[in-house]
Amino acid sequence: MIKQDTIQTILEVARIEDVVGDFVNLRKRGVNLIGLCPFHNEKTPSFTVSPAKGIYKCFGCGKAGNSVGFIMEHEHYSYPEALKYLAKKYTIDIDEEQLTAEEQDQMDSRESMFALNSFVSGYFQDYLLDHEEGKSVGLSYLKERDFLESTIKKFQLGFAPSRDLYSDYALKNGYKKDLLLKTGLSIDKGDRLVDRFRGRVIFPIHNLTGRIIGFGGRVLTSEKTVAKYLNSPESDIYNKSKSLYGIFFARNEILKKDNCYLVEGYTDVISLHQAGIENVVASSGTSLTADQIKIIKRFTPNITILYDGDTAGIKASFRGIDMILEQGMNVKIVLFPDGEDPDSFARSHTSSELESFVEKEAMDFISFKTRLLMDETQGDPVARATLIKEIVQTISQIPDAIIRTVYIKECSAVMDLPEQTLMNALNKLLRDKFRKQNFQKTDEEPIIIEETYESERQTELDPFDISEQENEIIRLLLLYGPEKIKVTETVEDEMGEMVDIEQEVGVAEFILESLDYDNVVFENKTYNRIIKEIKDKISTGDIPDESYFVRHPEKEISTSVIDLIAEPYELSHNWVRHKIYVKKEDDDLHQTLVTTLNTFRIKLITRTRRDITNRLKDATDEGEISVLMQQFYELKKVAREIDQELKRPFDY
Ligand code: CTP
Ligand code: MN
Repeated sequence: MIKQDTIQTILEVARIEDVVGDFVNLRKRGVNLIGLCPFHNEKTPSFTVSPAKGIYKCFGCGKAGNSVGFIMEHEHYSYPEALKYLAKKYTIDIDEEQLTAEEQDQMDSRESMFALNSFVSGYFQDYLLDHEEGKSVGLSYLKERDFLESTIKKFQLGFAPSRDLYSDYALKNGYKKDLLLKTGLSIDKGDRLVDRFRGRVIFPIHNLTGRIIGFGGRVLTSEKTVAKYLNSPESDIYNKSKSLYGIFFARNEILKKDNCYLVEGYTDVISLHQAGIENVVASSGTSLTADQIKIIKRFTPNITILYDGDTAGIKASFRGIDMILEQGMNVKIVLFPDGEDPDSFARSHTSSELESFVEKEAMDFISFKTRLLMDETQGDPVARATLIKEIVQTISQIPDAIIRTVYIKECSAVMDLPEQTLMNALNKLLRDKFRKQNFQKTDEEPIIIEETYESERQTELDPFDISEQENEIIRLLLLYGPEKIKVTETVEDEMGEMVDIEQEVGVAEFILESLDYDNVVFENKTYNRIIKEIKDKISTGDIPDESYFVRHPEKEISTSVIDLIAEPYELSHNWVRHKIYVKKEDDDLHQTLVTTLNTFRIKLITRTRRDITNRLKDATDEGEISVLMQQFYELKKVAREIDQELKRPFDY
C-alpha cells in the first residue's frame, strides 16, 4: 500500500545510526559505531553500526539488517508498520492518495469496524457494572468465579443484555447497519437488526495493538442445547486463525520472560493473569495454527503448553505441536491433574503454588509424547511400530541437528530401542524432506532482514569465498615458515602402548603436510607457485621466507607477497565472526596454524556441499542421488568435528 518511491525515500532519509541511536547508546569506533546489542544480553559491545553501508550487525548474536529491519526487530513491527514508524520520525508523508479508492474504502471500513466494536464493548461494560440485569446476573457470576473488579476492567469484560438492545443503540448513535452486520454484532432479520449476543458475559478479543477485533460470549445457564461460547464470526478485522486471545496483555511479559504460556480458553488466560502469570495467551478452543505460532515467535522461541488432564484433547493437539517444533521453537508441556484446568488450579492454589507447579511439571514435548503413547501401546507391537514412526516424524520437524540427536537418544532410552534404529528412520525422513525442499520452491514471504543479511554476506562475507583463507595461510607460511613448533602426537611405543610424545616440526612442513593431506590446490595460481618453490627447497633445509619472495624475479610473485606482508595485521572477518580472538598470533603459533587451516577446511567443505546440492538438483538417478546424499551428510559430519575442535557453535 505504501508506494515504492516513498519506501525509497524513507530508506534514504532514515540513517541507520540515527534510527538505532534512539534505542542503543552508540560510541564511535573507527568508521563504525558500536554499542551493547539490544537483541541479546552482553556486557562487552559487539553490536556494530556501519553508517557507510547503512546497516547494523551484531557479531555476538548475528542479527543484521538496515533501518527498517532494525525497527521491525526491535519494536516487533511488521514491514509496513516499521515504514510508518520511520515516516513519522522523519515527517515523510505517506500519501493517503496512494491508496486506490477501493483500498481507501476498505481501510475506512476497517477503521469504522474497530470504532463500532469499541463503542459496543463500552456498552457491554457499562451494562455489566451499572445495570440491574448486568449486575445481578453477569457481575455476580464473575465474582463467584473470583474475578476481581480490577481484572474485569483490565480485560474489559462486559454483559450483553438478554433483550435486544445494543443494535438499536448503536444505530441511534450513528453507526451504519452495514457495519453492525460486517462486525457480526447484529443479525439481519429483513426489516430489523437483532443482537447476536444476548444474555451472555462478554470477552472482547484484542489484536496485538489492543484494538477489539471480535467478542466471545459465555452463557450462564447450563442448558445443553446452547453452545457455551458464542463468538463473533470472521470478518475483515477478525481472522480466528491469526489471533490469540490475550496477546495484547501478554506481549511485554512474554518478551521479558522469554516464554509464552499457551492455554485453551478465555478464563484460563484471565485467571493466570490474576495469579500474576501474565505471559499467557489462548488459542480459544481451536487447534493451534501456523499463523498463531508465528505471532508468538515474534516475541519468544519458547512455548509452554498448559493442558488439562484429558488425553483425548492432548492427542488432538499433537499435530499443532509438531508445527511449533517445525518453526524451530522449544515446546514444553505442563499437565494439570485430572479434572483441573489452569483456571480452576489457579483459583484453588496460591500464586506461588501455581508457579512452582508449572515450573516443576514442565516436560519437553517429545519425551511427553513418547511416554504417553508408550503407555497406550503396551503389548501391541503393531501399534508400537506406528508409534515409532510418529515420534520420529515429530523429531524430524526440529531444524537443529544437535537437538534432534539429543531427542533420539532420549527416545531410544524411553522406548528401549537401539539408537541406530531411530536414527535410520530419522535419516530417511530427512532425506525425503531435503529433496522436497531443494526441488520445490517455497512460498515463504521474504523477510527484509534476511535480504540485507544475504546481500551483505555476498559482498564481504561470501560463504563460498576462500581467498581470505588462502591469503592467511600463505602469510603464515612466509612469515613463520622456517620456525619450529612443538606438537604432541599419540603413537604406539615398543610395548604396543599408546603414548603422547612431543615433537618439533617446522612450520612450513606442518602447513604443507596439512594441505597435502587434504589434497588442496589453491585457487590463487600465484600462491600455488609459491608453495611449489618452497616444497622444492624444503629438503635442503634452506626454506625461502618472505624476504626471498619480496625480491622474487617474477613480478607477479613479488607484488602479491608484498601486498600480503605490507598490510598491517588484522583479524580476519571469520575470526572476528566466530569470536576466535588471537591476541598475538605467534604467542601460540601451533594454535594459530590449526585454527587457520581448519577454518580453511570448513570453507572448502561448505563449497563442496554447495556443489553437491547443485548436482542433486539435476540428478535423476536414484543411485547417484543416494551417493550424493551420503557425501553431503558425511561432509556435514566432518565440518561439525572441525567446528568442535575450533570450539565454536556448529552452524552448517
Ligand atoms: N470455546 C468456544 N466455543 C465453545 C466452547 C469453547 O469458542 N462452544 C472456546 C472458548 O474460547 C473457550 C475455550 O474454547 O474459552 C475453552 O473451552 P472450555 O474449556 O469449555 O471453556 P473455559 O474457557 O474453561 O470456560 P469456563 O471455565 O467458563 O467453562
Ligand atoms: Mn474452565
